[in-house]
Amino acid sequence: MTVIAIRDLAKKFGDQAVLSGINLDLQQGEVKVLMGSSGSGKSTLLRCLNRLVEPTAGSIQFKGKEILGPNVDVRALRKQIGFVFQQFALYSHLTVLENVSLALRKLEGMGTKEANEKALHELAQFEMTAHQSKYPSQLSGGQKQRVAISRALAMDPAVLLLDEPTSALDPVMSRDVGDLINRLHHNGITMICVTHDLGLASNISDRVLFLDKGIIRADERIEVLANDHTDPDLQAFFGKRE
Ligand SMILES: Nc1ncnc2c1ncn2[C@@H]1O[C@H](COP(=O)(O)OP(=O)(O)OP(=O)(O)O)[C@@H](O)[C@H]1O
Ligand SMILES: [Mg+2]
Repeated sequence: MTVIAIRDLAKKFGDQAVLSGINLDLQQGEVKVLMGSSGSGKSTLLRCLNRLVEPTAGSIQFKGKEILGPNVDVRALRKQIGFVFQQFALYSHLTVLENVSLALRKLEGMGTKEANEKALHELAQFEMTAHQSKYPSQLSGGQKQRVAISRALAMDPAVLLLDEPTSALDPVMSRDVGDLINRLHHNGITMICVTHDLGLASNISDRVLFLDKGIIRADERIEVLANDHTDPDLQAFFGKRE
């Protein structure tokens, strides 16, 4: 089943075309990796999917229904499309448990007991139970990212969007998050993951969507992109790495 279908999507900020002619299908259970230079439009594309950014033109269907336009329940949409940000975006004044349970209480209307049980269930999956009473400042980067992912998954989203989930992490923690994403994939979670990290990309997928100046230039196996000798943009992006 196609969960997300993007057609001819475009976004301009003023005169600047940030996304042009984006077409993309995401199937149930699939993991897509999105790479591209800084400023190529990766975050903007993810943000269009849960209406944090309003596209200028085109269409996005989620489970067969258009999600752009005025008559869409954006709040309901955001429950279905979870978002994990680069910088964790945890509430620093709330404990780990409160960070995960807050949206369950506020958005799902759960009582404290039920919300805490659900939150603890998610945290347990990521070996974070022992840290439930800590504040974000008392956690490592990898642990914070686990909390952020637990929080997104607690809403039982149909799709999880991850924007550079390892960019603030060292290589060991980065591998850890990669393994975690693989586990989620194994459990059938549908994901789009933006990353600069070629190690993470190849850990979680054998294909990459390559975004260049707002256009999807390639949807290809990683080794094909990394060994390309003809396209200067691909060489500039992948060449300097290894
Ligand atoms: N709210 C905004 N207003 C104006 N311009 C914006 C806004 N958000 C993004 N842009 C511009 O859109 C372009 C794409 O930004 P975006 O954040 O999508 O890039 P990115 O590929 O995620 O980059 P990075 O790898 O650095 O995170 C950039 O030129 C950026 O300056
Ligand atoms: Mg970005």
